[in-house]
This record gives sequence, structure tokens and C-alpha cells, in this order.
Amino acid sequence: MASDISPSVAESPKAASAPKSARREAETAAFADAVLSGLARRPRSIPSRFLYDAVGSALFEDITRLEAYYPTRVETALLDRFGAEIAQHVNGADSLVEFGSGSSRKTSLLIEALDGLETYIPIDVSEEFLAEAAERLADKHPGLAVKPLVGDFMQARTLLDAPRGQKLGFFSGSTIGNLSHDEAKAFLVNAAHLLGPGGAFLIGVDLKKSLDILLPAYDDDEGVTAAFSLNMLARVNRELDGNFDTTRFAHQALYNEREGRIEIYLESLAAQKVQVLDRTFVFAEGERIHTENSHKYSVPEFQALASAARWQPVEAWTDDEDLFSLHLLRLA
Ligand SMILES: C[S@@+](CC[C@H](N)C(=O)[O-])C[C@H]1O[C@@H](n2cnc3c(N)ncnc32)[C@H](O)[C@@H]1O
Repeated sequence: MASDISPSVAESPKAASAPKSARREAETAAFADAVLSGLARRPRSIPSRFLYDAVGSALFEDITRLEAYYPTRVETALLDRFGAEIAQHVNGADSLVEFGSGSSRKTSLLIEALDGLETYIPIDVSEEFLAEAAERLADKHPGLAVKPLVGDFMQARTLLDAPRGQKLGFFSGSTIGNLSHDEAKAFLVNAAHLLGPGGAFLIGVDLKKSLDILLPAYDDDEGVTAAFSLNMLARVNRELDGNFDTTRFAHQALYNEREGRIEIYLESLAAQKVQVLDRTFVFAEGERIHTENSHKYSVPEFQALASAARWQPVEAWTDDEDLFSLHLLRLA
């Protein structure tokens, strides 16, 4: 049992020495800033990374098991089907660095396909979930050094304890779709710096498709995606002394054709006042809080974005129904 695996902090080597309670305080302060400023602006919004506390990460895992949620199923099948081919391109990588690693379940397929991998560095904001996933991975792959980093992958400037040598990045679950195009480009530029010369990057990207398939993936009949979304408000209540009545807000998912993205909102079902810390926010009936985007890309659209961030497209694999894509990029 690899019980010594506890996450370090991604932001800076200095922060890594901070005790866990100080890290939690910093994360709560960041959440408070985001919520207070996000509820004060119009349109109201709270960044999607705050959907992922321990409860949110567990609910996301439930989403991945839904029949309607094709991304996990199809990406897993792509890794299974093309793992050996991917490995041919990237064998020689000593370290695998995963951004927004979540449960790391799909990652095992990649680890098994790669020869000579020595180190796995999963990065995630959801600290407890990350620690559990890292332990599970270490148990499953006894020869592999597992070095989790907790923190915001947009802010990571260094990979603590990462060995020298070739690095392969992995960004699964179409998490890159949660970023705006500008944020995605900035992320890719920073990832190039973290992965270093000779680095390669495998990215799972959701494809544009019929709304009959797309919409149920973000608003399922069982209400799991709704529960995940509403956890944002429940988290405000837990951590920021909020008094949101989560039964008076409704999850809403719609497709913005012009932007090519799913947009997620929490809609107020009545005129109401809500208290967060010492502030009062007044909601009109029908007023919404934006919590998440999920951008969809055609293969050429994503390759153009990657190229603009100096990553060279090597190969893109898709499933027979063109639901999801896996892109392999190399530093130009
Ligand atoms: C859509 S889930 C995907 C999880 C996993 N990669 C998968 O494919 O099942 C997004 C993951 O990224 C993490 N995450 C979201 N924003 C983040 C950020 N800014 N920095 C670090 N992790 C983040 C979440 O905690 C969550 O585990």
C-alpha cells in the first residue's frame, strides 16, 4: 500500500512546503474571491474549476458511468484501440504528466501501453480525490513512481521532483474544452514550458456533433449532471457560510452554435435573496449563474489551436462515429 503518497503543490516550490491547512485556506480564499466577484458581475459566473471539491469529483465520476455520457466511454475505447500505436510515437518518455487527472482510471491503459515509463505526475485541484487516485495508481503499477501535485494547472510553473528526461503530457476528458480559446492557447504554451524540449502531448478533445447526442450528455434523465452542477452552490454553503436553497435553482445546459460550445447555467427558479459570507445577492426569477463551458472542436480546428501554441500535430485518432478525438502533439 503506497500510503506515503500525498500531493505536493503545483504552483511553486515554496508553496509545497506549506502545511495542508494553509493550502486549504488559500484554496478557500480563492473560492471566496471567485464567488463574491462572480456573483456581483453581470452576467454572473463562477469558474468551472470550483465545481471540483471532493463531492464534485465523486459526482463527476458518477457522470462518467452514465450511458448518456459518451466522452469517457469513447475516449477509453480509443486508448484501448490505439494505445500501441500511440506508444510507438512516444516510447522513450520517462515521465507521464497528467493535467486534471481526476480518478486517473483511463490513464492505466496508457501506462500499460508505454515501455520504460518511470514516473507518473498527476495534477489536480481536488486534493483528497487526487491523493486517493494516486494511491490506487501506485498500487496498480508497483514499479512506477507516482508524484501527485495539487493545484491549478493554469498556474503551474514548475513540476516539483520531476526527473529530467523526456516527458509525455496527457490531458483527458476534453477538459481543454472547459477553457476559452485564449485560455486553451495559454495553457498549451505553459504546458510546452513544463514538458520541455522533446516533449509530446496526448489530448482528448470532444468533437462537434448532433444535439441529440450532445445535450443528454450534459443534462441526463437521472439528474446526475444536475447534481454535479448544483454542488457549486452547496459548496458555497459548506465553505463560505452561504444559504443557497439548491431546490430553488435549476441546472440548464444549452448549445451555443456560434461559439461551438455547451454552456452550463444555474437558473434561479424564483425571486430570492442569498447570503454569502457577509454579502447579500438578489436574484430575479430566471436569472442565471454561468458555471461551465465545454467547447467542441473539429480535428482541423483543434490542430490549428495547437499549432498557434507551437505544438506540432503528429496524429489524431477518432472513433467510427466521430464522437471524440485523441490528438498527439509534439513540440515544434
Ligand atoms: C472533466 S474532469 C476530467 C477528469 C479526468 N481527466 C477524466 O477524463 O475522467 C476535469 C478534471 O480536471 C480537474 N480540474 C479542473 N480545473 C482544474 C484546474 N484549473 N487545475 C487543476 N485541475 C483542474 C478537476 O478536478 C477534474 O478532476
